[in-house]
Amino acid sequence: MTRRTLLVGAAIVGLTTLGVSAQSASIQQAVDGAYDKFKTLQEGKNADYIPALAKVDPNLFGIAVVTADGKVYTAGDIKTEVSIQSISKVFTMAQVIQEQGLESVEKQIGVDATGARFNSIIAVEGVRTVVGTGAPEMNPLVNPGAISATSMVKGSSADEVWKKIIGFHNDAAGRELSVLQDVYKSESDSNQRNQAIGALMLAYGYVKNNWQQAVDLYTRQCSIGVNAKDLAMMAATLAAAGKNPVSGKQVLDANKVPGVLAVMATAGLYDDSGKWLYHTGLPAKSGVGGGIIAVSPGKFGIAVISPPLDDAGNSVRAQRAITMISNALGGNPYAAKPVR
Ligand code: DON
Repeated sequence: MTRRTLLVGAAIVGLTTLGVSAQSASIQQAVDGAYDKFKTLQEGKNADYIPALAKVDPNLFGIAVVTADGKVYTAGDIKTEVSIQSISKVFTMAQVIQEQGLESVEKQIGVDATGARFNSIIAVEGVRTVVGTGAPEMNPLVNPGAISATSMVKGSSADEVWKKIIGFHNDAAGRELSVLQDVYKSESDSNQRNQAIGALMLAYGYVKNNWQQAVDLYTRQCSIGVNAKDLAMMAATLAAAGKNPVSGKQVLDANKVPGVLAVMATAGLYDDSGKWLYHTGLPAKSGVGGGIIAVSPGKFGIAVISPPLDDAGNSVRAQRAITMISNALGGNPYAAKPVR
Protein backbone atom coordinates (compact mmCIF):
# COMPACT_ATOMS: atom_id res chain seq x y z
CA MET A 1 0.00 0.00 0.00
CA THR A 2 1.42 3.41 -0.98
CA ARG A 3 1.67 6.39 1.35
CA ARG A 4 -0.98 8.17 -0.79
CA THR A 5 -3.41 5.25 -0.44
CA LEU A 6 -2.86 5.26 3.31
CA LEU A 7 -3.52 9.00 3.49
CA VAL A 8 -6.72 8.80 1.42
CA GLY A 9 -7.78 5.79 3.51
CA ALA A 10 -7.25 7.86 6.64
CA ALA A 11 -9.28 10.67 5.06
CA ILE A 12 -12.18 8.29 4.44
CA VAL A 13 -12.23 7.05 8.01
CA GLY A 14 -11.82 10.58 9.43
CA LEU A 15 -14.51 12.15 7.29
CA THR A 16 -17.15 9.54 7.82
CA THR A 17 -16.69 9.63 11.57
CA LEU A 18 -16.04 13.33 12.14
CA GLY A 19 -17.97 15.09 9.38
CA VAL A 20 -16.67 17.12 6.47
CA SER A 21 -16.14 20.60 7.87
CA ALA A 22 -13.27 19.87 10.27
CA GLN A 23 -11.29 17.90 7.73
CA SER A 24 -9.60 20.40 5.40
CA ALA A 25 -6.38 18.43 4.97
CA SER A 26 -8.28 15.26 4.23
CA ILE A 27 -10.50 16.91 1.61
CA GLN A 28 -7.40 18.23 -0.13
CA GLN A 29 -5.86 14.75 0.00
CA ALA A 30 -8.97 13.21 -1.57
CA VAL A 31 -8.91 15.83 -4.36
CA ASP A 32 -5.17 15.33 -4.97
CA GLY A 33 -5.58 11.56 -4.89
CA ALA A 34 -8.25 11.59 -7.61
CA TYR A 35 -6.22 14.03 -9.70
CA ASP A 36 -3.13 11.80 -9.55
CA LYS A 37 -5.11 8.65 -10.23
CA PHE A 38 -6.99 9.88 -13.30
CA LYS A 39 -4.65 12.42 -14.90
CA THR A 40 -3.21 9.81 -17.26
CA LEU A 41 -6.55 8.14 -18.08
CA GLN A 42 -7.03 8.27 -21.84
CA GLU A 43 -10.61 7.15 -22.44
CA GLY A 44 -13.37 8.96 -24.32
CA LYS A 45 -13.38 11.57 -27.04
CA ASN A 46 -14.12 15.31 -27.24
CA ALA A 47 -17.57 16.17 -28.61
CA ASP A 48 -17.20 17.15 -32.26
CA TYR A 49 -20.78 17.78 -33.44
CA ILE A 50 -20.10 21.36 -32.30
CA PRO A 51 -16.84 21.95 -34.23
CA ALA A 52 -15.29 24.33 -31.64
CA LEU A 53 -15.45 21.62 -28.95
CA ALA A 54 -13.25 19.26 -30.96
CA LYS A 55 -10.43 21.82 -30.74
CA VAL A 56 -10.33 21.99 -26.93
CA ASP A 57 -7.24 20.39 -25.33
CA PRO A 58 -8.31 16.86 -24.30
CA ASN A 59 -5.66 16.84 -21.56
CA LEU A 60 -7.30 19.73 -19.71
CA PHE A 61 -8.15 18.38 -16.24
CA GLY A 62 -9.28 20.43 -13.27
CA ILE A 63 -11.03 19.51 -10.04
CA ALA A 64 -12.66 21.80 -7.47
CA VAL A 65 -14.63 21.17 -4.30
CA VAL A 66 -16.40 24.01 -2.49
CA THR A 67 -17.91 23.14 0.87
CA ALA A 68 -21.29 24.42 1.98
CA ASP A 69 -19.43 26.79 4.33
CA GLY A 70 -17.36 28.20 1.46
CA LYS A 71 -13.96 26.47 1.70
CA VAL A 72 -12.33 25.80 -1.66
CA TYR A 73 -10.09 22.82 -2.57
CA THR A 74 -8.62 22.36 -6.03
CA ALA A 75 -6.23 20.31 -8.14
CA GLY A 76 -5.03 20.65 -11.73
CA ASP A 77 -6.14 23.36 -14.13
CA ILE A 78 -8.81 25.48 -12.49
CA LYS A 79 -8.22 28.58 -14.63
CA THR A 80 -8.92 27.47 -18.20
CA GLU A 81 -12.53 28.06 -19.24
CA VAL A 82 -14.63 25.66 -21.27
CA SER A 83 -18.20 26.19 -22.42
CA ILE A 84 -20.71 25.30 -19.71
CA GLN A 85 -23.02 23.55 -22.23
CA SER A 86 -25.81 21.52 -20.66
CA ILE A 87 -24.82 22.41 -17.10
CA SER A 88 -26.48 25.77 -17.84
CA LYS A 89 -29.79 23.90 -18.10
CA VAL A 90 -29.80 23.48 -14.31
CA PHE A 91 -29.49 27.20 -13.66
CA THR A 92 -32.04 28.32 -16.24
CA MET A 93 -34.47 25.71 -14.86
CA ALA A 94 -33.70 27.06 -11.37
CA GLN A 95 -34.35 30.59 -12.54
CA VAL A 96 -37.74 29.69 -13.96
CA ILE A 97 -38.59 27.88 -10.72
CA GLN A 98 -37.42 30.88 -8.69
CA GLU A 99 -39.54 33.25 -10.76
CA GLN A 100 -42.60 31.13 -11.43
CA GLY A 101 -42.61 28.38 -8.82
CA LEU A 102 -41.94 24.64 -8.77
CA GLU A 103 -45.26 23.83 -10.46
CA SER A 104 -44.49 25.88 -13.56
CA VAL A 105 -41.72 23.55 -14.69
CA GLU A 106 -43.54 20.41 -13.57
CA LYS A 107 -46.68 21.30 -15.54
CA GLN A 108 -45.23 22.86 -18.68
CA ILE A 109 -42.11 20.77 -19.20
CA GLY A 110 -42.29 17.79 -16.87
CA VAL A 111 -39.84 16.31 -14.38
CA ASP A 112 -39.58 12.77 -15.72
CA ALA A 113 -36.72 10.99 -17.41
CA THR A 114 -37.17 10.48 -21.15
CA GLY A 115 -34.82 7.49 -21.26
CA ALA A 116 -33.55 8.93 -24.54
CA ARG A 117 -30.44 10.85 -25.60
CA PHE A 118 -30.26 14.55 -24.71
CA ASN A 119 -31.14 15.74 -28.21
CA SER A 120 -33.68 13.07 -29.08
CA ILE A 121 -36.49 14.12 -31.41
CA ILE A 122 -38.33 10.84 -30.85
CA ALA A 123 -38.61 11.87 -27.18
CA VAL A 124 -40.53 14.98 -28.30
CA GLU A 125 -42.87 12.81 -30.35
CA GLY A 126 -43.35 10.53 -27.32
CA VAL A 127 -44.31 13.48 -25.12
CA ARG A 128 -46.81 14.65 -27.69
CA THR A 129 -49.04 11.67 -26.98
CA VAL A 130 -49.63 12.85 -23.42
CA VAL A 131 -50.51 16.47 -24.21
CA GLY A 132 -53.49 17.42 -22.06
CA THR A 133 -53.44 14.16 -20.14
CA GLY A 134 -51.18 15.35 -17.33
CA ALA A 135 -47.61 16.52 -16.92
CA PRO A 136 -45.42 15.83 -19.94
CA GLU A 137 -42.86 13.02 -19.64
CA MET A 138 -39.96 15.32 -20.28
CA ASN A 139 -37.63 17.46 -18.19
CA PRO A 140 -35.67 20.72 -18.43
CA LEU A 141 -32.29 18.96 -18.64
CA VAL A 142 -32.75 17.46 -22.11
CA ASN A 143 -32.55 19.82 -25.08
CA PRO A 144 -36.29 20.09 -25.85
CA GLY A 145 -37.16 20.78 -22.19
CA ALA A 146 -34.22 23.18 -21.85
CA ILE A 147 -35.26 25.18 -24.91
CA SER A 148 -38.73 25.29 -23.42
CA ALA A 149 -37.35 26.48 -20.03
CA THR A 150 -35.35 29.23 -21.76
CA SER A 151 -38.53 30.31 -23.56
CA MET A 152 -40.29 30.59 -20.18
CA VAL A 153 -37.87 33.19 -18.76
CA LYS A 154 -39.92 36.38 -18.75
CA GLY A 155 -38.70 39.53 -20.48
CA SER A 156 -39.91 42.05 -23.06
CA SER A 157 -36.85 41.61 -25.31
CA ALA A 158 -34.15 39.02 -25.98
CA ASP A 159 -31.69 41.32 -24.19
CA GLU A 160 -33.82 41.48 -21.08
CA VAL A 161 -34.20 37.69 -20.99
CA TRP A 162 -30.47 37.23 -21.55
CA LYS A 163 -29.55 39.61 -18.72
CA LYS A 164 -31.64 37.49 -16.36
CA ILE A 165 -30.13 34.21 -17.57
CA ILE A 166 -26.49 35.35 -17.35
CA GLY A 167 -27.28 37.19 -14.09
CA PHE A 168 -28.47 33.99 -12.43
CA HIS A 169 -25.37 32.12 -13.61
CA ASN A 170 -23.15 34.97 -12.34
CA ASP A 171 -24.78 34.93 -8.93
CA ALA A 172 -24.36 31.18 -8.58
CA ALA A 173 -20.70 31.36 -9.70
CA GLY A 174 -19.99 34.48 -7.65
CA ARG A 175 -18.38 36.37 -10.52
CA GLU A 176 -19.21 37.86 -13.91
CA LEU A 177 -19.08 35.19 -16.55
CA SER A 178 -18.99 35.80 -20.29
CA VAL A 179 -19.86 33.97 -23.48
CA LEU A 180 -17.08 32.15 -25.38
CA GLN A 181 -17.79 33.75 -28.74
CA ASP A 182 -16.03 31.08 -30.83
CA VAL A 183 -18.21 28.37 -29.27
CA TYR A 184 -21.38 30.46 -29.65
CA LYS A 185 -20.66 31.03 -33.33
CA SER A 186 -19.68 27.42 -33.96
CA GLU A 187 -22.83 26.08 -32.28
CA SER A 188 -25.07 28.70 -33.94
CA ASP A 189 -23.72 27.59 -37.33
CA SER A 190 -24.29 23.90 -36.61
CA ASN A 191 -27.42 23.72 -34.39
CA GLN A 192 -29.98 22.79 -37.04
CA ARG A 193 -31.08 19.86 -34.90
CA ASN A 194 -31.90 22.16 -31.95
CA GLN A 195 -33.73 24.49 -34.34
CA ALA A 196 -35.83 21.54 -35.47
CA ILE A 197 -36.53 20.69 -31.82
CA GLY A 198 -37.48 24.32 -31.08
CA ALA A 199 -39.90 24.40 -34.01
CA LEU A 200 -41.44 21.07 -32.96
CA MET A 201 -41.83 22.30 -29.38
CA LEU A 202 -43.75 25.31 -30.72
CA ALA A 203 -45.87 23.10 -32.98
CA TYR A 204 -46.85 20.89 -30.02
CA GLY A 205 -47.46 23.81 -27.66
CA TYR A 206 -44.55 23.35 -25.24
CA VAL A 207 -42.92 26.56 -26.42
CA LYS A 208 -45.52 29.30 -26.52
CA ASN A 209 -43.88 31.76 -28.92
CA ASN A 210 -40.69 32.84 -30.68
CA TRP A 211 -38.89 29.49 -30.78
CA GLN A 212 -36.02 31.07 -32.75
CA GLN A 213 -35.26 33.43 -29.87
CA ALA A 214 -35.46 30.56 -27.38
CA VAL A 215 -33.02 28.43 -29.42
CA ASP A 216 -30.63 31.37 -29.83
CA LEU A 217 -30.63 32.22 -26.11
CA TYR A 218 -30.29 28.54 -25.24
CA THR A 219 -27.26 28.33 -27.56
CA ARG A 220 -25.81 31.44 -25.93
CA GLN A 221 -26.28 30.09 -22.41
CA CYS A 222 -24.53 26.84 -23.44
CA SER A 223 -21.53 28.95 -24.60
CA ILE A 224 -20.92 30.67 -21.24
CA GLY A 225 -17.26 30.17 -20.26
CA VAL A 226 -16.56 28.56 -16.89
CA ASN A 227 -13.58 27.03 -15.11
CA ALA A 228 -13.69 24.17 -12.62
CA LYS A 229 -13.85 26.53 -9.65
CA ASP A 230 -16.80 28.45 -11.12
CA LEU A 231 -18.68 25.20 -11.62
CA ALA A 232 -17.90 23.97 -8.10
CA MET A 233 -19.14 27.29 -6.67
CA MET A 234 -22.37 26.91 -8.67
CA ALA A 235 -22.77 23.37 -7.32
CA ALA A 236 -21.96 24.57 -3.79
CA THR A 237 -24.71 27.19 -4.08
CA LEU A 238 -27.15 24.31 -4.52
CA ALA A 239 -25.44 22.34 -1.70
CA ALA A 240 -25.87 25.35 0.61
CA ALA A 241 -29.66 25.63 0.27
CA GLY A 242 -29.47 28.10 -2.62
CA LYS A 243 -27.04 30.58 -1.01
CA ASN A 244 -23.67 31.19 -2.64
CA PRO A 245 -21.43 30.16 0.27
CA VAL A 246 -18.74 32.73 -0.50
CA SER A 247 -20.68 35.84 -1.56
CA GLY A 248 -23.55 35.05 0.83
CA LYS A 249 -26.14 35.92 -1.82
CA GLN A 250 -29.37 33.87 -1.69
CA VAL A 251 -29.63 32.94 -5.36
CA LEU A 252 -32.48 30.42 -5.16
CA ASP A 253 -35.04 30.09 -2.36
CA ALA A 254 -34.07 27.23 -0.05
CA ASN A 255 -37.48 25.55 -0.44
CA LYS A 256 -36.96 25.36 -4.23
CA VAL A 257 -33.57 23.65 -4.12
CA PRO A 258 -34.82 20.07 -3.52
CA GLY A 259 -36.94 20.18 -6.71
CA VAL A 260 -33.95 21.28 -8.76
CA LEU A 261 -31.77 18.55 -7.23
CA ALA A 262 -34.48 15.95 -7.89
CA VAL A 263 -34.46 16.69 -11.62
CA MET A 264 -30.65 16.54 -11.62
CA ALA A 265 -30.82 13.12 -9.93
CA THR A 266 -33.42 11.92 -12.42
CA ALA A 267 -31.89 13.20 -15.64
CA GLY A 268 -28.57 14.96 -15.03
CA LEU A 269 -26.46 12.34 -16.79
CA TYR A 270 -29.20 11.50 -19.30
CA ASP A 271 -29.72 7.83 -20.02
CA ASP A 272 -26.84 7.00 -17.63
CA SER A 273 -28.44 8.86 -14.71
CA GLY A 274 -29.54 5.67 -12.93
CA LYS A 275 -26.09 4.12 -13.14
CA TRP A 276 -24.51 7.35 -11.86
CA LEU A 277 -26.93 7.58 -8.93
CA TYR A 278 -26.34 3.95 -8.08
CA HIS A 279 -22.63 4.61 -7.60
CA THR A 280 -22.67 8.11 -6.07
CA GLY A 281 -26.17 9.03 -4.87
CA LEU A 282 -25.40 12.58 -6.04
CA PRO A 283 -27.63 14.91 -8.06
CA ALA A 284 -25.36 15.96 -10.92
CA LYS A 285 -25.25 17.51 -14.37
CA SER A 286 -22.89 17.02 -17.26
CA GLY A 287 -22.08 19.17 -20.27
CA VAL A 288 -20.53 18.22 -23.60
CA GLY A 289 -17.81 20.82 -22.98
CA GLY A 290 -16.39 18.27 -20.50
CA GLY A 291 -17.69 19.60 -17.20
CA ILE A 292 -19.72 17.77 -14.58
CA ILE A 293 -21.11 19.28 -11.38
CA ALA A 294 -22.42 17.23 -8.47
CA VAL A 295 -24.06 18.25 -5.22
CA SER A 296 -23.86 16.66 -1.79
CA PRO A 297 -26.68 18.56 -0.04
CA GLY A 298 -25.51 20.41 3.05
CA LYS A 299 -21.93 19.25 2.51
CA PHE A 300 -20.27 20.32 -0.72
CA GLY A 301 -20.45 21.06 -4.43
CA ILE A 302 -17.88 19.43 -6.68
CA ALA A 303 -16.92 19.99 -10.30
CA VAL A 304 -14.47 18.44 -12.70
CA ILE A 305 -13.57 19.56 -16.21
CA SER A 306 -12.07 17.06 -18.65
CA PRO A 307 -13.30 17.20 -22.28
CA PRO A 308 -13.19 13.54 -23.46
CA LEU A 309 -16.72 12.06 -23.22
CA ASP A 310 -18.24 8.59 -23.17
CA ASP A 311 -21.02 7.45 -25.52
CA ALA A 312 -23.77 9.04 -23.41
CA GLY A 313 -22.02 12.46 -23.65
CA ASN A 314 -20.59 12.53 -20.11
CA SER A 315 -16.93 13.29 -19.26
CA VAL A 316 -15.09 10.07 -18.46
CA ARG A 317 -12.51 11.48 -16.05
CA ALA A 318 -15.06 13.74 -14.38
CA GLN A 319 -17.34 10.81 -13.57
CA ARG A 320 -14.47 8.77 -12.12
CA ALA A 321 -12.91 11.62 -10.14
CA ILE A 322 -16.19 12.82 -8.64
CA THR A 323 -17.18 9.28 -7.67
CA MET A 324 -13.85 8.67 -5.94
CA ILE A 325 -13.76 12.00 -4.10
CA SER A 326 -17.38 12.00 -3.01
CA ASN A 327 -17.24 8.45 -1.76
CA ALA A 328 -14.05 9.31 0.16
CA LEU A 329 -15.80 12.30 1.74
CA GLY A 330 -18.98 10.44 2.65
CA GLY A 331 -20.93 12.55 0.17
CA ASN A 332 -23.63 10.02 -0.76
CA PRO A 333 -26.89 11.23 0.84
CA TYR A 334 -28.36 7.72 0.67
CA ALA A 335 -25.57 6.50 2.93
CA ALA A 336 -26.64 8.69 5.85
CA LYS A 337 -26.20 7.06 9.25
CA PRO A 338 -29.38 6.22 11.25
CA VAL A 339 -30.34 8.81 13.87
CA ARG A 340 -29.83 7.35 17.35
O1 DON B 1 -27.55 21.64 -27.37
C1 DON B 1 -26.50 20.99 -27.36
O2 DON B 1 -26.39 19.97 -28.00
C2 DON B 1 -25.36 21.48 -26.51
N1 DON B 1 -25.35 22.91 -26.48
C3 DON B 1 -25.46 20.98 -25.10
C4 DON B 1 -25.53 19.49 -25.00
C5 DON B 1 -24.94 18.94 -23.76
O3 DON B 1 -24.11 19.54 -23.11
C6 DON B 1 -25.30 17.56 -23.40
N2 DON B 1 -24.55 17.17 -22.22
N3 DON B 1 -24.01 16.23 -21.84
